[in-house]
Amino acid sequence: MAKDPTQKPVLLSGIQPTNNLTLGNYLGAIKNWVKLQNDYQCYFMAVDLHAITTPQDPKLLAERTYRVLATYLASGIDPKQAMLFVQSHVPEHSELAWIMTCFSTMGELSRMTQFKDKADKEGKHIPSGLFVYPTLMAADILLYQTNLVPVGQDQKQHLELTREIAIRMNNRFQTELFAVPEPFIAKIGAKIMDLQNPTNKMGKSETSKGTLFLTESDDEISKKVKRAVTDSGSDITYEDSKPGLKNLLSIQAALTGNPIEGIVASYRDKQYGQLKVETADLVVNAIRPLREETERLMKDRGELDRILKLGATRAREVAHTTLEKVQELLGFVRPMGS
Ligand code: TYM
Repeated sequence: MAKDPTQKPVLLSGIQPTNNLTLGNYLGAIKNWVKLQNDYQCYFMAVDLHAITTPQDPKLLAERTYRVLATYLASGIDPKQAMLFVQSHVPEHSELAWIMTCFSTMGELSRMTQFKDKADKEGKHIPSGLFVYPTLMAADILLYQTNLVPVGQDQKQHLELTREIAIRMNNRFQTELFAVPEPFIAKIGAKIMDLQNPTNKMGKSETSKGTLFLTESDDEISKKVKRAVTDSGSDITYEDSKPGLKNLLSIQAALTGNPIEGIVASYRDKQYGQLKVETADLVVNAIRPLREETERLMKDRGELDRILKLGATRAREVAHTTLEKVQELLGFVRPMGS
């Protein structure tokens, strides 16, 4: 679709309100959004439709949806510029998702590693929603003519599929129906690992002692970091064969913005213990203000609702235009006068 050249490019991203957010969500996603927000027209969502691809407690889902929004605000996202909204408040997402499902193949969806991982955990009864999850994500992105999608490493494959669908539909209808989005995956922080199991991604699993939740107290965070599994040897180096050290150094680099080489050099002739203590302090000091501000905002439901309503109203105008265009191209009839 034709774009006004004076407009900023479009950036969109989202987080599932499943469980509390982690340091991985913050460093892999939100922190980059804050940095990029002035150069783009931004859309940031709490993706509740995605969350229900696995069973959710309704009360907790509602609580966590607000908490996702509060965390965005506490991290420094400016609601006057960005559109902050809940995915299900803009019904065009579900409508376009169905169309995207019809423009993707079983083969493509079966290859998604996130589906394979999650399906393994669900055992015999795999919800169909998990399978078509990426087509909903494609709809989220393509509805807004998005140019850039800042995400962690684990979402790269979904982005590739989104691009495929956009190109496929543009070719099919011989028009620039959708902008073809680029992923933004930061060099450092795009895959924070579990502190106890540093070859696995830091996930949201409640039981994991290796996950740092943004809701945790200073003491809990500090203990978890100090108990992080590190590797054999005594030199502090940044390499794949030392995933525990690599993770702690990456966390430091992502939090401070300092280059890895400088951080590694500062630990020459120092012990693992010192790295852990200093990383713990950095993480505690980064999460504390975020947690306190999130808690303060959580008490102001009226303000959160106001921001969400405004975000959804503004987002819907754009989403509706894209959806109508798609429907028209598909040949969906519109009775005269409607
Ligand atoms: P979700 O909710 O699993 O994760 C939200 C964001 O956090 C990133 N992330 C991590 N980054 C670094 N290290 C980690 N350990 C880590 N864990 C999570 C994720 O890569 C993601 O950027 N499908 C998406 C949500 C979504 C979305 C979208 C994203 C729905 N629609 C449209 C972008 C655009 C998801 O499940 O993210």
